[in-house]
Amino acid sequence: MSEHIASPAALLRAEGIVAGYAASRVLFGVDVEVPAVGTVAIVGRNGAGKTTLLRTLMGYMKPIAGRVILDGVDVTGQSAAGMVRRGVGYVPQEQGVFAGLTVRENLLLGLRAGPKKSGAKIEEAFELFPKLSARVAQQAGTMSGGERKMLAIARAMLARPRLLIMDEPTEGVWVGVVDEILGAMRTFAKDHAILLVEQHLGFALDLADSVVLLDRGNVVVSGPCESIDRDQLAKRLAP
Ligand SMILES: Nc1ncnc2c1ncn2[C@@H]1O[C@H](COP(=O)(O)OP(=O)(O)OP(=O)(O)O)[C@@H](O)[C@H]1O
Ligand SMILES: [Mg+2]
Repeated sequence: MSEHIASPAALLRAEGIVAGYAASRVLFGVDVEVPAVGTVAIVGRNGAGKTTLLRTLMGYMKPIAGRVILDGVDVTGQSAAGMVRRGVGYVPQEQGVFAGLTVRENLLLGLRAGPKKSGAKIEEAFELFPKLSARVAQQAGTMSGGERKMLAIARAMLARPRLLIMDEPTEGVWVGVVDEILGAMRTFAKDHAILLVEQHLGFALDLADSVVLLDRGNVVVSGPCESIDRDQLAKRLAP
């Protein structure tokens, strides 16, 4: 038997992503790799292009240049629905729920987006976030910001994604719920992949195996958390 163990191929690889809006470019050749297991955190100042990068990877925007490779397949320009079918879940920074539907209906949509016979059950969402169980009949649009975040995360997880792309899942969430969210993400990332945007550097470094610092649309630091100079990173993020 060979002693050689090949490094695990990336589940998602972004190569040289250039993207933007109308006349303005936001990303200038971004490379990111997400392995099949574990968490990669993207950090950066407001307006650095973090959400634009996630939306481009998820197929909500087409890159001007560059490629998105999922499990060895070029999926550049795939629709978001196509990405969901390929097992990628998405928790957006805002508007993560169907406001006109109830909590239960939102969760059922999550179940339906996943593979048939996945075995996922709506109760898993209530185990994850017990607060949701008291609100099954409430219209999602009338929930608080933190409750909507919980619902968006639970719905994405019910679809049984192999990769979960999450844009600031703890933003605006009360500290007690932050712990629940971080716990759910830790459990998920034990055998799945997470690509996360997280403003809170402490959470990012605590959760992630590797970190990517985006500055004005360019990757300026990228690597495993244990080899990153945290003080340098904090300095680069300082106002
Ligand atoms: N729909 C849009 N049309 C035009 N410009 C946009 C649009 N969305 C974002 N931008 C601009 O693109 C740049 C990057 O925005 P993006 O939302 O990707 O940043 P971000 O790093 O996620 O910031 P934040 O930390 O505030 O969420 C910003 O300058 C923003 O104003
Ligand atoms: Mg953003």
